Amino acid sequence: MFATDFIVAKHDLQQCRLVESQLPDTLPSDAVLVKVDRFAFTANNITYATLGDEMKYWQLFPAPKDFGNIPVWGFGEVTASKHPDVAEGERLFGYFPMATHLLIEAGGVSKRVLRDMAAHRQGVSPVYNAYARVSGDPAFAGRAGDYEALLRPLFMLSFLVDDFLAENDFFGARAVMLSSASSKAAIGLAHLLNGLRRNVRVIGLTSARNAAFVASLGCCDEVVTYDRVTSLPSDQPVAFVDMAGDSGLRARLHHHFGARMKYSAQIGLTHRDTAASETALPGATPKWFFAPDQIRKRAKEWGPGGVDARFAAAWTDFAPTLGGWLRIVESRGPEAVRQVYHDMLRGRIPPDQGHMLSLGG
Ligand SMILES: NC(=O)c1ccc[n+]([C@@H]2O[C@H](COP(=O)([O-])OP(=O)(O)OC[C@H]3O[C@@H](n4cnc5c(N)ncnc54)[C@H](OP(=O)(O)O)[C@@H]3O)[C@@H](O)[C@H]2O)c1
Repeated sequence: MFATDFIVAKHDLQQCRLVESQLPDTLPSDAVLVKVDRFAFTANNITYATLGDEMKYWQLFPAPKDFGNIPVWGFGEVTASKHPDVAEGERLFGYFPMATHLLIEAGGVSKRVLRDMAAHRQGVSPVYNAYARVSGDPAFAGRAGDYEALLRPLFMLSFLVDDFLAENDFFGARAVMLSSASSKAAIGLAHLLNGLRRNVRVIGLTSARNAAFVASLGCCDEVVTYDRVTSLPSDQPVAFVDMAGDSGLRARLHHHFGARMKYSAQIGLTHRDTAASETALPGATPKWFFAPDQIRKRAKEWGPGGVDARFAAAWTDFAPTLGGWLRIVESRGPEAVRQVYHDMLRGRIPPDQGHMLSLGG
């Protein structure tokens, strides 16, 4: 039996190809063969590829020289198991390669979780090697499952940024500007800032083609297109949460607000337009927001289960809103996956679409 992997050239993301490899006839002890059923694909996955070397994403699922396999959040089914506590037919949720199969060296098996102990996966954050055992769990079935794969990992970022800003009293800002406001990560953050009545205005910055969509969500107090950001009044202190990673936009905002730019977080790279070196900007120094730091800090302060419980409450409030604006688009087979990949790379996916893919036909 063969596995098919969808791989991309690490330094030229336009290039992609399929590779086939033979799956072992007999598994070594503790190994688990998983058929990758369906996975979510958003601009976040393109960012994983863009930062594949720096953030070690390429390390997770080895590929031939100069190519990488982009990690995706999704579901798989155990089709063969040599681990005594993992049964064939089990459903897993976690980080998979863009592939038809993944061979896991199962370890750390508990009632709810198992881990891939493969040596090449150990240098990354432990969260990437954990698989939730979700057989029969309605929260991970059907449409709810698609929402988990598409949004839950992004909403964790939204939750942590909201918490960090609130904890720091918004650094004195009276408004928070979000770039790529039509992205799922930004929508989650706008939902939290707005719904929790954080006492700050939420300003969504987006492209002209996505402005009506962002306005229709109702979670931003104001929506401003990129070409009009310098029309914003500059007399109030602001914070900037940057999902777009566009150096030109960042410079225009910092020069416009000057010392009133109280906080400037780099979060994403949807526009992939970050200059290799940026000159110093007026106002707060732009800094990468590092989510694991905030999780670690809160885990200490809130105690065991504290982060999970608060996050679960926030998700329970957010998830029911998804049906109102997110349309799930399913695509199966290598050609369909290649098409969605290229469309995502070129920014051609409308923001109300959530893509669930499968390489199997
Ligand atoms: N640091 C972290 O821990 C962390 C965690 C989660 C997410 N993120 C980052 O947040 C960003 C958003 O991720 P997401 O999955 O939520 O995105 P998404 O929903 O797929 O975002 C789609 C939006 O991104 C912009 N966009 C996407 N591709 C583009 C392209 N090629 N050219 C121009 N604009 C493009 C467009 O927004 P506009 O027209 O509004 O610009 C588009 O509507 C990603 O860069 C992701 O890596 C970071």
